Amino acid sequence: MNTTTKTTTENAQKLEAAYASVSDLYRGKTDDLYAACREMRKTTRVYEGDFIAKFLGVPTNAGLQTRPTYAVFQYQDVMNVLKDANTFTSGFILEGMGKVWDGLMILGMDGEAHRKVRALLQPAFMPENVNKWRPKIDRVAREDFIMPLLPDKKADLMEMGLNFPVRAMYALVGFPEDNPDQYNQYAVWALSMLAANQLDKAKAEEGRRVAAIAVKSLYDALMEQVQRRRAEGATGDDLITRLMNAEYEGHKLDDHEVATFARSLLPAAGETTTRTFSAAMTFLLTIPGLLDRVRNDRNLVPKLIDEAVRFEPSSTFKVRETSADVQIGDVTIPKGSFVQCMVASANRDESAFENPDVFDIDRRQKPSFGFGFGPHMCIGQFVAKLELNCAINGILDLMPNVRLDPEQPAPKIEGAHLRGAKSVHVIWD
Ligand code: HEM
Repeated sequence: MNTTTKTTTENAQKLEAAYASVSDLYRGKTDDLYAACREMRKTTRVYEGDFIAKFLGVPTNAGLQTRPTYAVFQYQDVMNVLKDANTFTSGFILEGMGKVWDGLMILGMDGEAHRKVRALLQPAFMPENVNKWRPKIDRVAREDFIMPLLPDKKADLMEMGLNFPVRAMYALVGFPEDNPDQYNQYAVWALSMLAANQLDKAKAEEGRRVAAIAVKSLYDALMEQVQRRRAEGATGDDLITRLMNAEYEGHKLDDHEVATFARSLLPAAGETTTRTFSAAMTFLLTIPGLLDRVRNDRNLVPKLIDEAVRFEPSSTFKVRETSADVQIGDVTIPKGSFVQCMVASANRDESAFENPDVFDIDRRQKPSFGFGFGPHMCIGQFVAKLELNCAINGILDLMPNVRLDPEQPAPKIEGAHLRGAKSVHVIWD
């Protein structure tokens, strides 16, 4: 094995280990998250207490000052909270693990500051722009990931699921494409930032230390790219250049802002897409008749993705802080409280979805919350959908008669907070 191949393998293994450690951290203790949520929807409109710590046992906002905590479960309540970002704010995110981010972290911005930054960034992520990236993403999916697997006639698709969104995102950001080893290192750093949110105090400290190194290293790598483009006249079509050229109400991002925002995308864009890929592939391969239908009618691929995001949102809840006293049902939630919005519950609320516990790609379209809702709704959702679309179509086109490997365990989606399948073993002809 030559040195480059060896380092590449080592970094790929590190990425796998980092992903597994984030999955462990957010796995929690519940066996059946959906049953717990169903019960709450029936009996308790607003739970007074920390539902997530008590029933799911996963870190939410470790390292933050404690606040009175409440949880909501119903479709309409979750929608109302996520929609009203003035009353239900996100700034607290920057207090805890957000401390390691020194810069533009849009997820934790509120009010006018958030609105302005979002307006500046949004155009780069709209479908008309994102779809221009299709040939590039399609090429990465097919040539870099699917074609090398073909001679083996069997694979764990999660090797692709873990690495492909990272590679695609780094290609879109505009990193040079000839150094996959470097991508994996960046992806390990990006996951290290998520791992900083620990329940255990000693581990949290260590997590934050590693995350701080990761944040700085990613910033340096991105800044180098920003400065290179500035020197070359910023004429390309990659994300960094689009951000450099974006303008709203006469304001443009400076180099520091471009680098810090691009950095905040990397953890947001990687493992979320990995988990959603694992869910979509699991349903495609395990629900009787679905594979044939989708193989023969590719217009169903977007519906498969939408239903996967409803049925198994990769992140099962979102938290907000109240900026004023609010009344929900009979409960007055005081100003300065945390409200846990149970996305996994709202997405299966029987008052909003017929037969909510059935995976049904033919259901009538209706908003669900796997990509969030309201002002903070996922800015990268069209990128994620494009990546998933290219990956699924590539697999169906290039792996003839792809199906589950009967000699391996069937994929299983698990996790109380960050859900996904660990492996998806397939064979093809
Ligand atoms: C299937 C994959 C993905 C899922 C399930 C997902 C999910 C989400 C969710 C639920 C939110 C809302 C967070 C909140 O309300 O607090 C969000 C926000 C965000 N996502 Fe994604 N995401 C995915 C992929 C991506 C990708 C590919 C990118 C980048 C290209 C991205 C960038 C962002 C950013 C920057 C925000 C913050 C937006 C804001 O605060 O205004 N995401 N995402």
